Amino acid sequence: MFISLIMLFVRRLPGFFYYHRFTIVSCLFVLLTLFYFLIRWNFICTNAQAWMHVKRMCELYAAGRAIGSVCAPLCTNDAINNINCHSFRSTKEAVFSGEWHKTRLVFKTAASEVHDLHWHDNGVVKYPTEAEFLSTVRAIVRNKFNITISKDTAQRLSRLKPMYIETDVKKRQQELENIWMLIQDNEYLLSAIFSERDIFPQLLGTCGPYFAVEYLEPIQGLSSFLTFEENKEEWAIRLRTAIQIVELIEELENSFQEPFHLCDIKLEHFGVVKEGSRMKFIDLVGVFPRSAINSIIKELNACDVDDDCEFFDCRSTCDVKTHRCSNQVTNSNLQIVCEKIFLGWRMSNTVMIPGLLMTPHTPAELASILRQCANPSSEFGKSRMAPDEEIKKRLYNILIEIEQSVTNDFYMS
Ligand SMILES: Nc1ncnc2c1ncn2[C@@H]1O[C@H](COP(=O)(O)OP(=O)(O)OP(=O)(O)O)[C@@H](O)[C@H]1O
Ligand SMILES: [Mg+2]
Repeated sequence: MFISLIMLFVRRLPGFFYYHRFTIVSCLFVLLTLFYFLIRWNFICTNAQAWMHVKRMCELYAAGRAIGSVCAPLCTNDAINNINCHSFRSTKEAVFSGEWHKTRLVFKTAASEVHDLHWHDNGVVKYPTEAEFLSTVRAIVRNKFNITISKDTAQRLSRLKPMYIETDVKKRQQELENIWMLIQDNEYLLSAIFSERDIFPQLLGTCGPYFAVEYLEPIQGLSSFLTFEENKEEWAIRLRTAIQIVELIEELENSFQEPFHLCDIKLEHFGVVKEGSRMKFIDLVGVFPRSAINSIIKELNACDVDDDCEFFDCRSTCDVKTHRCSNQVTNSNLQIVCEKIFLGWRMSNTVMIPGLLMTPHTPAELASILRQCANPSSEFGKSRMAPDEEIKKRLYNILIEIEQSVTNDFYMS
């Protein structure tokens, strides 16, 4: 009965649709499959996915398995709303934003392949003592970043609520499980260790394996990068953005015990603090202090060519005799920024998509410094050398100079 109704409906379709019914059904099928895989591989994300994560968080919270300051506002009193999916082509399991008392926050998940903290001894569930947990926290930070944290910092990291010591044994054990998962995540760990420095995105709260950081405004003009005719105001914005990026890099390199290397640089990974002039780096997965990145590079597989010695944007060279990568990262944050952000996307040494500072207004002198900065020794192929202090200074000074003159011109006209 149902089938014959469908047949009747199909036969009544206008001639064109009826005639091409098999092609149309096949196209629909292909489109739906494509849509499914686009979502599955995170090429597109829908708010439904973000809500699925909220649901998961709240289920864990209801079962007493998720502890943290954003659980209750998210799950019991709906204080966090306006949930929006954020990850476009994302490799992370979850990146979505929400609003909490007019503050926008971005939720991310900590790495999911972490084994439990507890173990079984003759059928009895065992947890580390507080002292053991503290040493474990310090060991994790040392292994990941080659940084020795103070006892106070370790203590701060071993609690989810800094002012509150959980006395209920079961709840504390659950808290330890949550922290254990969170601290294996680079992003969480860096934001948590350096929370007082206000250089990495501020950590605003956690709930189980999820953590929330401050929302950073994307860099303006991102969508209009291909425009060739633009006004002076836009040129001034680009210059100011470039200055902020250079200042951020300077701070990351010179205000810590060791310089930090940003190994996954793209424009979307820079964001501005709300209404502020401060720039921050958003994606901390590929951010490591120099000695830690050197160890990562040293442990790369045997190499034949220099291109085998790369950890995302952090590059080193291959010793062809020993087939080992050199144990030092050879390029620098500024080199990558000049190459990928300021100059633009290149292919065979030709700029294909102009970068932030490549516009019709770009003076020849700035273009020349940018080329030296991106490739200081005029290497063929990818540059593996870092620009020296002299280029760094010249670049910063010329950016300031042009920005000031453009801004003055703008106010005088
Ligand atoms: N704190 C934040 N503030 C504003 N936007 C953010 C924030 N964190 C992430 N985003 C947005 O979500 C995007 C994906 O985030 P992130 O880079 O951390 O995830 P990812 O899985 O590494 O994605 P991708 O593979 O695209 O780099 C970012 O490019 C940025 O646009
Ligand atoms: Mg990223």
